[in-house]
Amino acid sequence: MRSRTGRPRRLLLVVAAAALVVLAGCGTAKNNGQNALQPKGPAAQKINNLFVPIAIIAIVIGILVLGATVWFAIRFRYRAGKNDNPKQVHGNTRLEIGWTIAPALLLAVIAVPSVSAIFELAQNPGPQALQVTVVGKQWWWQFEYPDAKVVTADELVIPAGRDVHLSLKACEDQVCNVIHSFWVPELAGTRDVVPGQTNELTIKADNPGTYLGQCKEYCGLSHANMRFRVIAKTPAEFQDWIRGQQQGPANPLLQDGKPAGDAQRLIVNTFECTNCHSLEDSSVPSYGPNLTHLASRDYFASANLPLNRTNLVDWIMNAPGILPMQTEQTKCRPAPQTGCVGMPSFTENVPAGQPKMTRAQAEQIADFLLEQK
Ligand code: CUA
Repeated sequence: MRSRTGRPRRLLLVVAAAALVVLAGCGTAKNNGQNALQPKGPAAQKINNLFVPIAIIAIVIGILVLGATVWFAIRFRYRAGKNDNPKQVHGNTRLEIGWTIAPALLLAVIAVPSVSAIFELAQNPGPQALQVTVVGKQWWWQFEYPDAKVVTADELVIPAGRDVHLSLKACEDQVCNVIHSFWVPELAGTRDVVPGQTNELTIKADNPGTYLGQCKEYCGLSHANMRFRVIAKTPAEFQDWIRGQQQGPANPLLQDGKPAGDAQRLIVNTFECTNCHSLEDSSVPSYGPNLTHLASRDYFASANLPLNRTNLVDWIMNAPGILPMQTEQTKCRPAPQTGCVGMPSFTENVPAGQPKMTRAQAEQIADFLLEQK
């Protein structure tokens, strides 16, 4: 005969196994660099301080309510041969007042620190903060330093220990004016990036390091790949970085108005990279990422690829083969304003009359770009 306890025990095992799998997702042994529960700056710390006690309260209440539901369901379940109806009652005033007031009080208590944190986090950090304008594009981030007159992409370099006041905007072009959301989980909460509007967010990294960011609002094909890195440097290193970015390009693109060499000729004339990218002025925003100092970055391609020769050559030849992008060639070239989103492929589906790029040509362009420190 089967033991009476066999079924509940098996059920318990299944529940325990499921709980283990779910809880494994909370493991902090391996830091993925995007863990909001491991704050590395004051804004993220404030949010975490609020989140943890409220989560504990919610978990305790959740367990009590679910536990009671299950217990009542088992305790008062239908049993064969025992069909007596329970005692019929109509309401219980004391109970009902109790379970209305208790949650209302709890919500009121939680609201006090929540609302005050919202206002504290929205405070303008003041004039000592570094100002950066962030522009969400499809599918990459542009960072403009208006005081230093520096424009870069994919990597937001900031001084550690100092407030950084971000003005967040979205691409205004008709082909790319979609909503994004800016999020560096270890440094701050999220902020939507909305066309026609400037939103603000203050971030600060306590220590030098690299903090991973991600677009958090679905914005099209490569939303999941719309990453960026926040690189916090010491104040001295940051000043060095700014000075480096303010320099002209290591190798000039043009000489007397004409391409200064073979690689430059490929870039300007053959493949018209300059339609979208700025390569000789790091102070101007461009339709595609400003590449004047590309080689000073560790990552490129929306911070998806480490910057090295192999990755860069593959990217130059066929970027949409690496990250999905809308690149209908007829729309894409030669005028990007007419409907191109993302980088075109120079090796696949090249429209008639346009040159197809060889690997040797891509290597020549890559070698030029890798010298632009
Ligand atoms: Cu940008 Cu999602």
